[in-house]
Amino acid sequence: MEQPTQGYAMPRIGDKAPEFKAVTTQGDINFPGDYEGKWVILFSHPADFTPVCTSEFMTFAKMETEFNALNCKLVGLSVDGLYSHIAWLRTIKEMIEFKGMKNIEVNFPLIEDITMDVAKKYGMIQPGESSTKAVRAVFFIDPKGIIRAMIYYPLSTGRNFSEIKRALIAMQTADKHSIATPADWQPGDDVIVPTAGSCGVAKERMENRDGITCHDWFFCTKPLAAEQI
Ligand code: BEZ
Repeated sequence: MEQPTQGYAMPRIGDKAPEFKAVTTQGDINFPGDYEGKWVILFSHPADFTPVCTSEFMTFAKMETEFNALNCKLVGLSVDGLYSHIAWLRTIKEMIEFKGMKNIEVNFPLIEDITMDVAKKYGMIQPGESSTKAVRAVFFIDPKGIIRAMIYYPLSTGRNFSEIKRALIAMQTADKHSIATPADWQPGDDVIVPTAGSCGVAKERMENRDGITCHDWFFCTKPLAAEQI
């Protein structure tokens, strides 16, 4: 059966984050304006009072201080209402113990989006998966309000929050040091220096390595200590 596409936007990397005003569990927000100068991870989940989402919220809440230390704020969204959000977050704190986590308080805002206005702007409603629930989307939005990365997971698959943190650090490191990061990079691993843009630089790279390791002229790496990132 053909799926509807009208009214369901799909943002792209490099776009300005779509603007919205919303009611959240931490008061009203004006997005992304309220977050200028900070990274934001905006993420959606299918529904309150569901098990995978509960495990995700507990994990993200436990890691919130690690993200804040990276100048990054967390903002969640589902198409449930504010009172459902409040009741669910209270239940998480008072009742749920999972993988050694208990008494977990979710202090970051959780957006109510019963109208699905925000979810549709961000491609979080993907009718082939569900037309009534948001998929598990993750948007990395930089301090200028630009979407820098997006990850989408289906309803059945809980996200890997260590990977979300790793990807954030990789983007911040790329911006700060004008480098790129190779597969499975972790802070402290070698980074990739920009590819030679001329025959002269390519020759020089291969002859005069100067702290740079070249696997070939187009693939050169250098150390970058974890303390420098
Ligand atoms: C969950 O979070 O457990 C879930 C939500 C919607 C569909 C399937 C699983």
